[in-house]
Amino acid sequence: MRLPDDLVDALGNVSSVGVITGAGVSAESGIQTYRGQGGIYDDEAEGDATVEALSAATLRADPGRTWRVVSELARRAVDAAPNAAHEAIVLLEQSLPRFVLLTQNVDGLHRLAGSRNVIDIHGDVLDTRCLACDERGRFTPAEVRALRNTPRCQACDGILRPDAVLFGEMLPEEKILRLHHELLEDVPDLVIVAGTTAIFPYIVQPVLEAAGRGRLTVEVNPEPTQLSEHVRWSLRGKAGDLLPLIANVVAEA
Ligand code: OAD
Repeated sequence: MRLPDDLVDALGNVSSVGVITGAGVSAESGIQTYRGQGGIYDDEAEGDATVEALSAATLRADPGRTWRVVSELARRAVDAAPNAAHEAIVLLEQSLPRFVLLTQNVDGLHRLAGSRNVIDIHGDVLDTRCLACDERGRFTPAEVRALRNTPRCQACDGILRPDAVLFGEMLPEEKILRLHHELLEDVPDLVIVAGTTAIFPYIVQPVLEAAGRGRLTVEVNPEPTQLSEHVRWSLRGKAGDLLPLIANVVAEA
């Protein structure tokens, strides 16, 4: 697999990069995507049940049901390892003076790989918050594997919730502010969107903003998305194949 020649030339002049990722970037780590072939929502009944379990209303009414799904997502996360795509994104950050990563993934694999300036807009399934006293915590992999019932707060015995965004909840304000500042106001020279169906406006907007301001825009996805026609280069392929090619060019420039 090769990158287009004009993209290789353009990558030589980049000094700031924004990367936006979704579940497809973790697919090669063996983590199931939400949509598309073999995705969690592929089977309609399973998809609807998952969305309902991962909603704010279910957490209030039946936290055990939310935790059954969250603990399965958390188990998959701790059993997975970062892949070549995660590592390429780390190399981009290490090669450039300014870098930001906006991810919808809750598996924590970007941080585990070594990414530092990460806006994990949907949170992380290993992080917890107490519904009673608001104490924050984080599960170890061993705790995740041992998780059976609704976990309780060590400080006050209140019910814990995952510190991740559930359906029907607002995004954390501090992360939205960072997204605005780092991707919409101070638009990077290059914006790469990889492994996402890009259904949320806060994912689409930074890419359109960059394209509108004439910045370099690249999509990496085996399938076309609604962003494909708006980016300068829409590359069809796997993140684990294409992102290392891009990162190596930037790192050697
Ligand atoms: P999706 O599951 O919707 O999309 C995964 C995308 O990755 C698809 O466009 C696939 O074509 C692509 N893909 C699959 N394998 C790939 C690979 N090896 N390399 C590159 N791309 C690949 O995931 P998201 O767009 O992240 O939200 O989904 C967004 C949100 O919907 C999730 O964060 C979650 C879900 O409901 C919440 O839980 C709040």
